[in-house]
Amino acid sequence: MTWTPVLSPPALGPSDVHIWRSRLDVHAEEVRRCRALLTTEENERAGRFVFEEHRDRFIVARGRMRDLLAAYVGSPAATLQFAYGSHGKPRLIVPATDTTFNVSHSGGSMLLAFARGRHVGVDIERTTRTVDWEAVAARFFAAPERAVLARLSTSERRAAFFRCWTRKEAFMKATGQGVTYGLTSFAVSLAPGDPAELLWLAEGDPQGWGLADVEPDAEHCGAICAQGRDWQPRYLVAPEARSITEARSITG
Ligand SMILES: CC(C)(COP(=O)(O)OP(=O)(O)OC[C@H]1O[C@@H](n2cnc3c(N)ncnc32)[C@H](O)[C@@H]1OP(=O)(O)O)[C@@H](O)C(=O)NCCC(=O)NCCS
Repeated sequence: MTWTPVLSPPALGPSDVHIWRSRLDVHAEEVRRCRALLTTEENERAGRFVFEEHRDRFIVARGRMRDLLAAYVGSPAATLQFAYGSHGKPRLIVPATDTTFNVSHSGGSMLLAFARGRHVGVDIERTTRTVDWEAVAARFFAAPERAVLARLSTSERRAAFFRCWTRKEAFMKATGQGVTYGLTSFAVSLAPGDPAELLWLAEGDPQGWGLADVEPDAEHCGAICAQGRDWQPRYLVAPEARSITEARSITG
């Protein structure tokens, strides 16, 4: 998996899924720039964070999301308008577009995914975090996933747990239902070396969705899920602490 540094988004074709990684801990000046792109409602949401660090990360995450979407659809970042699904998944309504997106953040790291005409979901988790993964797997993973985990060696299990978790999250986020989808209503691959794949769905066809791994950095693990299997992931990274808009003006 190779992250390609780019100054502005390449063309997004119907069979492309672009995944970007970004850092959220940036200079105060960049936080101010991002804040200026947010709506009153988004700024109010930012104001509800207790800790400044969390508030600033939220602001920068929204800023990054708006910057990239703006570059993809060719409208100014501050003019984009979103609507929210019944479980909170945002989608772009102004301007009208077939560009879809999803984002995920974990601490100071973020992933953003973009596609055209297909649902996408992305997830990032910090693998160094303290989590009672055995208890979480026992409680939330589907029976086939628990069976695979039990067959792995002790040294393989922690990584397999995070692979499973992020693949499950990415799928549930692609559907727009999030955890309300039901964690035991579907199963994903998780054994080391097995391709990322949706293996089983209690209802529907698992062939209707594609999964791929995302390796953001040494401390995080991620996954991307998109509707259909006729797509290719492309991993992109922008110069840090520089807006996409600025970068575009540099490249002309
Ligand atoms: C919101 C949800 C979809 C993801 O929450 P999360 O993992 O805490 O957060 P992430 O950083 O991955 O994603 C958050 C972003 O997803 C988007 N989002 C919100 N609701 C969404 C939904 N229903 N579907 C898809 N995306 C959604 C938003 O852009 C949100 O960004 P914001 O918080 O800046 O507004 C939540 O419903 C969920 O699935 N939580 C899972 C928690 C869990 O216990 N998982 C166990 C897996 S084994």
